[in-house]
Amino acid sequence: MKFGILTSGGDCAGLNAVIRSIGLYLCRNVKNAEIVGIPDGYGGLIRGESFPLRREDFEGILAQGGTILRTSRQPFKKMTVSEEGGSRLSRMLANYKKMGLDCLFTLGGAGTHKTAAMLSMEGCNIIGVPKTIDNDIYGTDVTFGFRTAVEVVTEAFDRISTTAASHSRIMLVEVMGNKAGWLTLHSGIAAGAQMILIPEIPFDVDAVCDFLAARLAAGEHTTMVAVAEGALLASEAKFKKEQRAFVRTALGESTVTRHLAEVIGEHTGAETRYSVLGYLQRGGTPCAYDRLLCSRLGGYAARLAHEGKFGVTVALSGTAITFNALTDIAGKYKFVDPAGEEVRFARSIGISFGDRA
Ligand code: F6P
Repeated sequence: MKFGILTSGGDCAGLNAVIRSIGLYLCRNVKNAEIVGIPDGYGGLIRGESFPLRREDFEGILAQGGTILRTSRQPFKKMTVSEEGGSRLSRMLANYKKMGLDCLFTLGGAGTHKTAAMLSMEGCNIIGVPKTIDNDIYGTDVTFGFRTAVEVVTEAFDRISTTAASHSRIMLVEVMGNKAGWLTLHSGIAAGAQMILIPEIPFDVDAVCDFLAARLAAGEHTTMVAVAEGALLASEAKFKKEQRAFVRTALGESTVTRHLAEVIGEHTGAETRYSVLGYLQRGGTPCAYDRLLCSRLGGYAARLAHEGKFGVTVALSGTAITFNALTDIAGKYKFVDPAGEEVRFARSIGISFGDRA
């Protein structure tokens, strides 16, 4: 059997750990397994590029950050657009056949899964593995890469907290996560942030300022605020992400965090600073939890391929590794429940979400 592996979308820690586990399983359990890597995610499949992966290529990469296959973003909405040489979808289908693949492992996030479902419906044998620091893939309790990012962000918070405390400052820390607040919520709680702003709970600027002013009045001179990059004002909630970005740019407010830091500083009179963590959240070695999760997900995905079970993506459910049909999860997202236990608990210990609740 011939197996292809690709990694698509934004990278995260643990991609190589999954690749390794898939490879080790196949080399050990499938007679004459031929394995190829497809470079740059769907980009390589569109161009028809692949290279052989041998057993030794899987050695020593468990703890390595990034992806040995490289990755790229290929927007789902562009897949069926006609272009010179045919649509990207038609080129991928032709190359899948030309490469003689019996199975393709697609390691990626929500967008990757949409394309994976489409390839599967068009007759390719696909097995997905859910990756992203955003933790927003439907049908799995956790995505690989998320826990490492929580560790990294929490450590960054800890470091920023000490300088914030030394200077009696209000400190805003912007965290990635796209439209989901998981990374901000988990790392914010883990780091002891007093305020957490996430897209799922639109904030009110007055409520934010009142909370911070009350802390200052109570003699609390330092406040740590975790701000999701997708956090939005209650008044912006009706707009789509692109429309919000347009309005903010027109007003000269490049990011929500920067804008908020200015408003808070003016309103409270406290020294206010912000820090955008950026790509350090995606880089580096996976934490032990992710190494274990990636190894289990990869090994399970390879076993499914061995058993001829395609059109699925692997998942963690409780403590068990399982799978979902790609068509059941593609296009769906998993968001923080504003009325859920984690948010309720956080509120119960005094964490503000920047609203009037
Ligand atoms: O999806 C992962 C992610 O890191 C998001 O949290 C973030 O919004 C986005 O990717 C950044 O994308 P890019 O790497 O294209 O700048």
